[in-house]
Amino acid sequence: MTDHVSTHQAEEDARNEDILIYVNGKIVPKAQAMVSVYDSGFMLGDGVWEGIRLYNGRWTFLDEHIARLFEAAKAIDLEIGLTPEQVIAAVLETQQANGMTTDAHARLMVTRGVKTRPFQHPKLSQRGPTMVIIMEHSRQKLPRPIRLATVPHMRGLPMTQDPKLNSHSKLNCILACIAAEKAGADEALMLDVHGFVNTTNACNFFIVRKGQVWTSTGDYCMNGITRQKVIDLCRANDIPVFERNFSLVDTYSADEAFLTGTFGAQTPVGWIDGRTIGTGQMGPMTERIRGLYKTMVGA
Ligand SMILES: Cc1ncc(COP(=O)(O)O)c(C=O)c1O
Repeated sequence: MTDHVSTHQAEEDARNEDILIYVNGKIVPKAQAMVSVYDSGFMLGDGVWEGIRLYNGRWTFLDEHIARLFEAAKAIDLEIGLTPEQVIAAVLETQQANGMTTDAHARLMVTRGVKTRPFQHPKLSQRGPTMVIIMEHSRQKLPRPIRLATVPHMRGLPMTQDPKLNSHSKLNCILACIAAEKAGADEALMLDVHGFVNTTNACNFFIVRKGQVWTSTGDYCMNGITRQKVIDLCRANDIPVFERNFSLVDTYSADEAFLTGTFGAQTPVGWIDGRTIGTGQMGPMTERIRGLYKTMVGA
């Protein structure tokens, strides 16, 4: 298969050539948005980030994203140097500079900053942190449901790069995605250390079986904000939802599968490891949940 797609695929938008980018308090044209080659994010993936989305004038669940950013920064002992309110102000300032009112996505990144020497020790980051906001016009556009392949790369235990950290270094996920592409899929389905189905390389994962919605226990995956909203929406709408262990056997025979994430909200999955899931198209439960979520976020 060569027609690979990605959950982060968006409509082509020529305006993205002329966007303005926030770099350490300055808002500059894309071509001038630079960080040092000594930056700890570039050199070592030493930083944390959030992806946020604008629908109809409102950044969806912004406070929760900013809280998760500060939690991650605290966990890696990185002092952002701004209050959550100041970070939100930087997002709004970037939005205003770009004249964006809806259908935008921003990647908000904070690294430990610029090092004095090109080595690992965090104390070498003497200038910083570095904060960048890349904000693009963005509407997800997928020609078909996503295809997944199971890969040998796992979602690990919390003591080895906790999967709940949105760290700049995503090498484990990138290797998983490469393996999935080589297996003829678009993205990777990753198992936990016990072999239960956990998550994909960039999104949370759900299946639908006999009217029930299942997702992993949450122990080994990103505590996705969209994941939690889907669980909340199911509960509020009398859709049985379970955070539980389940295996590939349960997954292949599911009626539907879908992914969740801020970028794509709920993205249908049509194929896993050569098995068609349900009809291979978006199923009625996925469609219903997408509708509920759209209403919730005012999209
Ligand atoms: C590995 C991984 N899983 C899931 C998600 C989705 O999380 P959210 O719904 O908060 O965007 C992300 C996004 O940051 C992620 O990096």
